[in-house]
Amino acid sequence: MLKRTLFLLIIITLLLSACGGAQTSSTAGQSAAGAGNAETGEKLFNQSVIASAGGAGCASCHSVEKDKLLVGPSMFGVAGRAETVIKSADYKGAAKTAEEFLRESIVSPDAFVAKGYSAGVMVKNYAKLSDQEVKDLVAYLLTVK
Ligand code: HEC
Repeated sequence: MLKRTLFLLIIITLLLSACGGAQTSSTAGQSAAGAGNAETGEKLFNQSVIASAGGAGCASCHSVEKDKLLVGPSMFGVAGRAETVIKSADYKGAAKTAEEFLRESIVSPDAFVAKGYSAGVMVKNYAKLSDQEVKDLVAYLLTVK
C-alpha cells in the first residue's frame, strides 16, 4: 500500500513538473513573438521551397554576396539601399523605414521594382507567409551587409 502511494506521488510530481515546463516554454515563445528572429529567417531564406507560401525559397533568386546577381538583385546591403530608395522621387510605395521597405518588397513585390528589373518576376505568393515568417526574413535581411 505504501509503495503504491509513493508510486502515485512520483507520477503526480512528474506530471506537475511536465506541465510547469510546458508553461515556461510557451511564455518564452510569446515574449519572442513580437520580434523577428534572424537565424530562423536565414533558414527560411535558404530553403529550396517555402511550404507556407507554396513557392520557391528566396536563395533560388537572391544571393547574399556582394554584386552576385541571380534572377533578382543581391541582398547584400539591401537595408542600406532601402534607406536611399524610400527617399528617392521615383519611390511610390508606402514604406517609411528600411524594415518596412523589406516587408513590402516581400509581401507586395511590385510596390517598388528594383532598378533594372521587371515587375512580376518575384513570386507573388509570399503574401501568404505568416507574419512571424516575414518578421524573421526581414530580421535576417537587416543583417546582410
Ligand atoms: C523567382 C525569383 C525570386 C524569388 C524566388 C524571390 N525573389 Fe525577391 N526579387 C526578385 C526580383 C526579380 C526582384 C527585383 C524586382 C522587384 O523589385 O520586384 C526582387 C526584389 C526583391 C527585394 C527588393 C530588393 C531591392 O534591392 O529593392 C527584396 C527585399 C526581395 N526581393 C526579397 C526576397 C525574399 C525575402 C524572398 C523569399 C521570401 C524572395 N525575394 C524571393 C526575384 C525573386
